[in-house]
Amino acid sequence: MKILGIETSCDETAISLVEDGRSIMSNVIASQVEIHARYGGIVPEVASRQHMLEIVPTLRSSLDQADTDVSALDAIAVTNGPGLAGALLVGVNFAKAISFGRDLQLIGVNHLEGHIYANWLEGRNPETEAGFPLICLIASGGHTDLVLMSGHGSYRLLGRTRDDAAGEAFDKAARVLGLGFPGGPAIQKIAEAAKGTEILPRAWLRGTYDFSFSGIKTALLNKAKETGIYPSSDKREYDKEFVVEIAAAFQLSLAEVMVAKTIDAAREYNCKGILLGGGVAANSVLRQMFKDKAELHLFIPSPRLCTDNGAMIASCAYFMSEGGRGHIDTVDMDVNPSLKLGID
Ligand code: KG4
Ligand code: ZN
Repeated sequence: MKILGIETSCDETAISLVEDGRSIMSNVIASQVEIHARYGGIVPEVASRQHMLEIVPTLRSSLDQADTDVSALDAIAVTNGPGLAGALLVGVNFAKAISFGRDLQLIGVNHLEGHIYANWLEGRNPETEAGFPLICLIASGGHTDLVLMSGHGSYRLLGRTRDDAAGEAFDKAARVLGLGFPGGPAIQKIAEAAKGTEILPRAWLRGTYDFSFSGIKTALLNKAKETGIYPSSDKREYDKEFVVEIAAAFQLSLAEVMVAKTIDAAREYNCKGILLGGGVAANSVLRQMFKDKAELHLFIPSPRLCTDNGAMIASCAYFMSEGGRGHIDTVDMDVNPSLKLGID
């Protein structure tokens, strides 16, 4: 079964063709990151307009890459939430048009569930390699959720961020340090040169699986102010060294809390494996820490499948339809910017 996965919930116009939920035939991502970088963050209206410009060429490239055409498709999957309303609308309406015009099944996919299913691509299969229940950490620009997955489509939210999402915290910290947008990759890169001289606090919120990242962001802001790095824009040599150290300390604090809480939850719920997803799961320090500490089967998509892509949407749709749930939408399907993950 060949499913086209369309993803436009934020700042990537992404379309992918996936066969039987696990085999990627094409994966095209038109990133708007350079456009939004000028404004220091994502501008929703600019994102919607850019999706309009990119969506047809992205479909063409995706079909070309798979060396096929629309007639080969069995179903159309599209992210219908959560995300930016105007951005989601572009993908959803485009998907509806293809589905209506070609009489193809339409499957609306929750973006967060899509991030989980990136773990079924690239030859891996958490269900057979580990088995349910699985613990999933979804850490992206808009969410930091710890989810217990007891079967396909069966989720329980164990904890979530009470303030900033992890990716949002990375983006804000990078802005304070003058590192540009998106912040996660910028902080990761500069932190490589750190000697480990700075330490920032961790918010453990003991007794819950919730996260809080705003305190550490404020601690970083205060240090940046004390040292004159913020709001100053002319960085001195001394500042550069400090920026490297504070960026590394920030990255370490976030990673440590996410790793510890995920492993604790996996133990408490007798999970057989750990799944990561979302843009922050592309972070090399977080990935390595999980590899060092997880004593369970560990699944981490390659970085290009952690950040937003259409393949994860197509994969998720396959398990929603073929996987026994028979999920099909109609042209009445709407976008839902605050769509929640189905919770048992
Ligand atoms: O999943 P994603 O592509 O989009 C959303 O669903 O939000 O995640 C984007 C977020 C951004 O905040 C970005 O800074 C962060 O993921 N990110 C990273 C890395 N790559 C992307 N954060 C830390 N380290 C990275 N290497
Ligand atoms: Zn995402």
